Amino acid sequence: MSETDIVLQSREGRVAILTLNRPKALNALNSAVMRELVQLTAELDRDPEIGAILITGSEKAFAAGADIKEMEDRSAMEMMLADWFSDWEALERVRTPMIAAVAGFALGGGCELAMMCDLIVAADSARFGQPEIKLGIIPGMGGSQRLTRAVGKYKAMDMILTGRMIDAEEAERIGLVSRLVPADRLMEEALDAAKTIAEFSKPATMTAKEATNRSFEVGLREGLLHERRIFHALFAGGDRKEGMSAFREKRQPTFRHG
Ligand code: CAA
Repeated sequence: MSETDIVLQSREGRVAILTLNRPKALNALNSAVMRELVQLTAELDRDPEIGAILITGSEKAFAAGADIKEMEDRSAMEMMLADWFSDWEALERVRTPMIAAVAGFALGGGCELAMMCDLIVAADSARFGQPEIKLGIIPGMGGSQRLTRAVGKYKAMDMILTGRMIDAEEAERIGLVSRLVPADRLMEEALDAAKTIAEFSKPATMTAKEATNRSFEVGLREGLLHERRIFHALFAGGDRKEGMSAFREKRQPTFRHG
């Protein structure tokens, strides 16, 4: 697995921690960061020893957006031919649950990166926004779609059309944040959530994520059928037997992730 200084890696048991590290640019997401995150998350996704991936930034910024300086001189044709930002879609294919631990700015692509994760744990210092309109553009990494699905039309329109930043409290109120915690407890709380998930049966957490995400793609009938098929399939694994035996025997289960 590669190690660079723009995305730092560490592990806590079955949790992989990826820390964005471009402090001078407030963790602006340039192509190099994207390549690293895409490669690392794909590798971690295939690693049976990893049950959750935690993505975080610094105290000042989770990420202040796509790198404006990198985009500034591009023509429309260059953007289109390179299919700029399309590579971020690889994060959607990561089956392992991903947790964003957000402090400070999560703007533009930063907010969109957080929304590509499955849980967002926010420090009370977090600020979310889609300020692209101020640059004469619109969100390009899914903001108009994922934000609207997360918080509904009117809050999304407010953020996308005015570029207004919202604080962590408002973000939690409107459903953009899973857990809101004091800044000094951010990593503890995010890691706690990640470790809880990582200790559960990996086939169960992966398919729970898949089924939940499916609800954004298909109608209710199809979604329910998909859920039930997964539910039945999990009875083929040793982990569900262990989970149910442990319940009956009043002990903690030991999942083997298979
Ligand atoms: N791209 C490139 N560099 C950035 C950046 C970004 N998105 N955000 C901040 N930086 C750089 C600044 O240029 C500055 O660098 P220099 O010291 O070399 O000038 C450094 O980070 C520190 O930033 P500030 O001095 O501006 O810090 P501040 O505390 O005064 O302000 C801020 C913080 C409000 C976040 C401000 O930096 C800002 O508005 N940043 C841009 C936010 C933005 O517009 N994001 C959307 C980008 S477009 C996008 O993301 C498209 C998409 O959908 C994918």
